Amino acid sequence: MPVIQMQGIVKRFASLTANNHINFDLEQGEIHALLGENGAGKTTLMRILYGLYHADEGQILVNNHPVTIRSPHDAIQNGIGMVTQHFTLVPTLTVAENLTLGQAGSFILNPLEIQRQVEKDSQRLGIPVKPAALVRHLSVGEQQRVEVLKALSRNARVLILDEPTAVLVPQEVEILFDALQRLRQEGLSVIFISHKLPEVMTICDRITVLRDGALVGTVAKSATTATELARMMVGRENFGVARQSERQPAGPLLQVEALQAQGSKGLPALRGVGFMVEAGEILGIAGVSGNGQTELGRVLAGMLRPSGGHIRVDDKNLTGAGPAELAQAGVGCILEDRHASLVDDMTVAENLVLDQLDGFSRGGMLNRARILENARKWIAEYQIKASPNDPIRQLSGGNMQKVILARNLSRTPKVVIAAQPTRGLDVGATDYVRSKLLEQRARGAAVLLISEDLDEIMALADRIAVIYEGSLMGILPAQAATVETLGLMMTGKTLESIRPTPEADHA
Ligand SMILES: Nc1ncnc2c1ncn2[C@@H]1O[C@H](COP(=O)(O)OP(=O)(O)OP(=O)(O)O)[C@@H](O)[C@H]1O
Ligand SMILES: [Mg+2]
Repeated sequence: MPVIQMQGIVKRFASLTANNHINFDLEQGEIHALLGENGAGKTTLMRILYGLYHADEGQILVNNHPVTIRSPHDAIQNGIGMVTQHFTLVPTLTVAENLTLGQAGSFILNPLEIQRQVEKDSQRLGIPVKPAALVRHLSVGEQQRVEVLKALSRNARVLILDEPTAVLVPQEVEILFDALQRLRQEGLSVIFISHKLPEVMTICDRITVLRDGALVGTVAKSATTATELARMMVGRENFGVARQSERQPAGPLLQVEALQAQGSKGLPALRGVGFMVEAGEILGIAGVSGNGQTELGRVLAGMLRPSGGHIRVDDKNLTGAGPAELAQAGVGCILEDRHASLVDDMTVAENLVLDQLDGFSRGGMLNRARILENARKWIAEYQIKASPNDPIRQLSGGNMQKVILARNLSRTPKVVIAAQPTRGLDVGATDYVRSKLLEQRARGAAVLLISEDLDEIMALADRIAVIYEGSLMGILPAQAATVETLGLMMTGKTLESIRPTPEADHA
């Protein structure tokens, strides 16, 4: 029995058709994955269901009745809730206050009463939250659970989750999956968007695949494999880019000594980190999220001043240098926060020259023609799905990342800092970014890859360091690294304490 039927949905943005006659149905009590490459149209379809966009054609049925959904309010009335990646909670209020905010009659309840109610819902639904905590003190995973609870407290029977796991650490993914399974048992339906095929194969009952705005098909999990899903998404089967050759190290290009930095809460985030990266190699920094990776990336990009230690690039002391000076010295950065590297309101062409305007202006005037010509070149070279004059914010995540790659790598940097470079990207875009990093390595750049994706580190890095609470637990050659060893180091065991062998490479 379908709770939702979307029939012949068409959505156009100017000349682009983001959804092209899509049929999608959701059964009661199922977890249904929506898969597709960046820009395939998944978010658009779900925004239509939640009333944030209006379809140009097609209709939506809820429990077999045609409905008109003009706004999220209409969606909620129809029992549909959505949790996006941009949370809508008020940081200065408590969890309980956020959950009752805007509900009729909420003002007559006293705070303790509200907290008790939230506690009850939280236990019944198996979604752990702390009712009295201020939202601004919560981790991303906790905030997400509050959002889920908020949707459910408005009697949602259908829950849309747009890439919920992209921001979660493995332990939080487990909590979320437990909760989703419980909701399924209670007869609720979940639409789950993710780029991670293993997750989809773990949690979902059926999978719908979109490609270039069109429906490829809907399959039952029991009747498919990850390989088949990948092929449905991109039309080919071979995935996985990995380092092929042994490194040809050619002397250190990036040297970091005893680096210290404060985190956003004023606490020490880096406590004396030291390593070097040679020309022609990739050094991977693995670790569980929140152990200083963000700060390390920001310090090396010149966006956070270190409170101690030294940074040397090709023997030049660049400790405390800003982004411009680092770029000048040959450091290219692919930052974790894509939006910090791009100006949302500017076009693709403008974003491609953002930090090299000097080269594109004369006498204080920008040379528009050259900026456009430059954009056409890089759009073609990096296969960016966009036009030079498109505002950057319209691009999908994968295409935004390609713009950042093009801008940084086009200057053939000596040192490449890549922080979480494939987060949120589909399989095709992920392979692309990884192959670009390997290309940098092959041409002799020193690449520092900071990633929470252990598979990525193991596939690309020549040597692997593990960061834990702002310190390195050790550095070892990739050939000597096993998931077990790295896992132990990720929980705070030093390499020597696990394996006091000569393999340890204290470079
Ligand atoms: N408001 C908008 N204006 C113009 N174009 C848009 C708008 N929203 C989305 N698009 C375009 O529609 C297409 C589909 O985008 P959508 O966000 O639905 O993709 P997606 O499958 O969710 O991708 P991702 O995996 O990167 O999140 C893309 O080409 C995107 O650039
Ligand atoms: Mg999306």
